[in-house]
Amino acid sequence: MLKAIILIGGPLKGTRFRPLSLDIPKPLFPVAGLPMIQHHIEACTKVSGLNEVLIIGAYPKNDLAQFVQEMSSTYGIVIRYLQEFTPLGTAGGMYHFRDQIRSGSPTYFFVMNGDVCADFPLQEMVEFHNNKQALLTIMATEATRQQSLNYGCMVLGKEGEVAHYVEKPSTFVSTLINCGIYLASPEIFQTMADVFHANQQQDHLMQLCCNGRDPAHIAFEQDILTRLAGSGRLFALPVFRWWSQVKTAGSAIYANRHYLALYKQKQPDRLASTNKNYCHIIGDVYIHPSASVHPTSVLGPNVSIGPSTMIEPGVRIREAIVLGKAHIQAHSLILHSIIGTGTSVGEWSRVEGTPCDPNPNKPFAKMENLPLFNVNGKLNPSITILGTRVSLAAEKILLNSIVLPHKELTRNYKNEIIL
Ligand code: GDD
Ligand code: GTP
Repeated sequence: MLKAIILIGGPLKGTRFRPLSLDIPKPLFPVAGLPMIQHHIEACTKVSGLNEVLIIGAYPKNDLAQFVQEMSSTYGIVIRYLQEFTPLGTAGGMYHFRDQIRSGSPTYFFVMNGDVCADFPLQEMVEFHNNKQALLTIMATEATRQQSLNYGCMVLGKEGEVAHYVEKPSTFVSTLINCGIYLASPEIFQTMADVFHANQQQDHLMQLCCNGRDPAHIAFEQDILTRLAGSGRLFALPVFRWWSQVKTAGSAIYANRHYLALYKQKQPDRLASTNKNYCHIIGDVYIHPSASVHPTSVLGPNVSIGPSTMIEPGVRIREAIVLGKAHIQAHSLILHSIIGTGTSVGEWSRVEGTPCDPNPNKPFAKMENLPLFNVNGKLNPSITILGTRVSLAAEKILLNSIVLPHKELTRNYKNEIIL
């Protein structure tokens, strides 16, 4: 029997994802029509013998209750949310809930960062892990020299063994990076226990936890991976399929495009087609069945339309996510943007952002995940985001701007944050 754990963090962080995470927890933000972590759950349900998914985070139970219930009934496996009383770090939560993870004696369990997206190679990881008799297998991929510094970096020894691991190094270590997807054998809890007791002792000696952390805080990367490197039981499986982090709203547009492309390969029924939806579809488009789209509108490529959204005549949408209950009025244009729930875009308006894709000229380049402002205090060019229930008047232009919820915009804006 196998299990999976999805780490989703808590409401205090994920700041680069605002304003999209103001109304909905970031892990539930829809990408290609499904909440971000539903893609993880779906990948888990395809692994033979996997029948339980535990979501661990610091969000209030109510934020996830409905999602968890829907997922259990959709996929027919056990799905539960375990709430941390305080953020315990990427391994502290797992250690805290170890009895629940070990119950039923799973042979192995996956650990998945909720803020990554990928064509998850889970079955391959099971086979690899089994062959190596590993304690822990890390899904790894290649990054550029410069970008590798933003990730966990590792150097491989013989036969995929991790000889050296450094989390977000300050100088170059390796271009092989940690994807935040792991397969662990339950004996890993012994390593966690050693770290836990060592931390307790240290805190006791120093009479403090002056870094503000809970004494039960354990970082999977710094405390566990670094310790296991060179032990002969930590392995990495390099994978060259699509993988990305979702830290900024711009990376949600990028993830949307790739998940839609995966639908085309694996579940083409999920995609809209000109025959099925009566409007003009270009490339990969997802339209929720309850959305109403006028036949003269043109959608795609890489567009997702949420539930109960209304798209009027002559609308053109490309490279965008439109959430539920939005109203896109006649002849408006939306490019490289995210339109929030219940937002209305007026007739003949133009909403446009700047694409922030990985550099196509650099092999293995990843999304940059830039902060909102650059060092000179200027807004970095980014996709345009309209928060929840924004109203944009007719015939207006909105370029590279971020609009917080409930704003009424009656003029043009360019490179602005509208608070
Ligand atoms: N439950 C819980 N509790 N989850 C947490 C906590 C916590 O206290 N802290 C972080 N997480 C979750 C986050 O939501 C995310 O899904 C994952 O754990 C890792 O988050 P970060 O701590 O922000 O790390 P990171 O994303 O910057 O880097 C990690 O992922 C990279 C790949 O995306 C590291 O594992 C890197 O080595 C790796 O390259
Ligand atoms: P910046 O503030 O701009 O760095 O953005 P950020 O908060 O998105 O960056 P960070 O990498 O710190 O957080 C990304 C993800 O990790 C989010 O999903 C958070 O929910 C989660 N996260 C990070 N640290 C913690 C933590 O200590 N506790 C919890 N619960 N979640 C965390």
